[in-house]
Amino acid sequence: MKQPLHDSMNIVARDHEVCAGFARAPYFPLVVKRGRGSILEDADGKEYIDLLASAAAINTGHCHPTVVEALRDQVGELIHYTPGYVYHELKVQLAEELVRITPGKYRKRVAFGLSGSDSIDGMIKLVRAYTMRPKIVSFVQAYHGSTYGALSLTALSLNMRRSIGPLLPEVHHINYPDCYRCDFGSSPERCSLQCLNDFRRAMHYYLPPDEIAAVVMEPIAGDAGFIVPPKRYMQELHSICKQHGILFVVDEVQQGFGRTGKWFCIEHFYIEPDIIVMGKSIASGIPMSAIVGRAEIMEALDAPGHLFTTGGSPVACRAALATISVIESEQLVRRAADMGSYMQEELKRLAGVYDLIGEVRGLGLTIGVDLVTDRGTKERAREAAAKICYRSFERGVIVIFMAGNVLRIQPPLVITKEQVDKSLDVLEHSIRDYLGGKIPDEILNFAKGWGM
Ligand SMILES: Cc1ncc(COP(=O)(O)O)c(C=O)c1O
Repeated sequence: MKQPLHDSMNIVARDHEVCAGFARAPYFPLVVKRGRGSILEDADGKEYIDLLASAAAINTGHCHPTVVEALRDQVGELIHYTPGYVYHELKVQLAEELVRITPGKYRKRVAFGLSGSDSIDGMIKLVRAYTMRPKIVSFVQAYHGSTYGALSLTALSLNMRRSIGPLLPEVHHINYPDCYRCDFGSSPERCSLQCLNDFRRAMHYYLPPDEIAAVVMEPIAGDAGFIVPPKRYMQELHSICKQHGILFVVDEVQQGFGRTGKWFCIEHFYIEPDIIVMGKSIASGIPMSAIVGRAEIMEALDAPGHLFTTGGSPVACRAALATISVIESEQLVRRAADMGSYMQEELKRLAGVYDLIGEVRGLGLTIGVDLVTDRGTKERAREAAAKICYRSFERGVIVIFMAGNVLRIQPPLVITKEQVDKSLDVLEHSIRDYLGGKIPDEILNFAKGWGM
């Protein structure tokens, strides 16, 4: 038998031979092998500071000892028994915890899934069944996942939608309030929330509000480049929903579980949503997602309305309970707020030195660094983003870009100040290397990212 070769480049080559390319958006040839806290080790034993946290799915850090111990204990006890047919206490305990930590002082119910996408699909069923209305409003540039329902709300990449239609009918996309690249040519100082007037106009001419079941929104448009909506927009949108009996749903799959300096990002806007969809960091990397909503909405489906054989497994529940306990005992929500402010300040300092950085924005430890070729036109500096991420990888820092040009800074919430300082140092060196023309064009053949 042929002996497998274990160095990174060979594993990458073998991957390209046998794994489907559509499920991979490559930035650099990182082959992960081991992780501890905010440090990753590759197949060749090289270490990296992780500013990506597996796409914001490891808020507690890699292999947190409390999570690992809980998992070890649970796999020896019971790995799985489908919750479709039996009860288990861990699922109840976790549902009680999710009811406790989510905003909203009303009666709630919880349903578990395996990925953010399938919980988005479940949410779509619920809002339609509860309101008996067909239409859903989502946003241009939204990312809600890859299953047909979630993808129907997603509007971020032609490659995700091309040749696979038809998608779900009656989904309408409105503009996300992007104040840096305002679709209406306005600025925060002169803003009259024209983007919201556009929605109002749609409801007046062609989108009957009494046929809209829900507005579904990411409280920060993550994959669109970490766009933070203005508070005024959020509150007005919420009151429009209330006025017309439209449910307000937030997708916290990426921003939830402490990342933005609150348990859930929507708390920054003082809004109690009707439904919260969560996933990613909920179980520190073990597949799990959840829908938490007002009891009356969650009762709109009868069994077997939405269930999965391996959803809410004892192992995932144990990991999620350990995750919540770590976030609380290590005060990671507070830490995300503090470390996030520090990191943003430092990145803004770099923006003062390098014109390449058009804007630094975010909340807590979700930070976007928007690279532009020209601060006036705000043209996206795509090549710069690809090269800077690649060079940072070579220098031992994992950072990727979204929307073609926005550096994605979402480290584990346990990242230390030393690690932050070191990673910022590497980023600055990579920016200098880029500006000095020291990063070869060849890396662009590999570093395609999302291809936007
Ligand atoms: C905001 C948001 N919603 C939903 C999803 C889909 O989650 P999953 O990839 O677990 O299906 C993602 C994934 O990136 C996301 O960022």
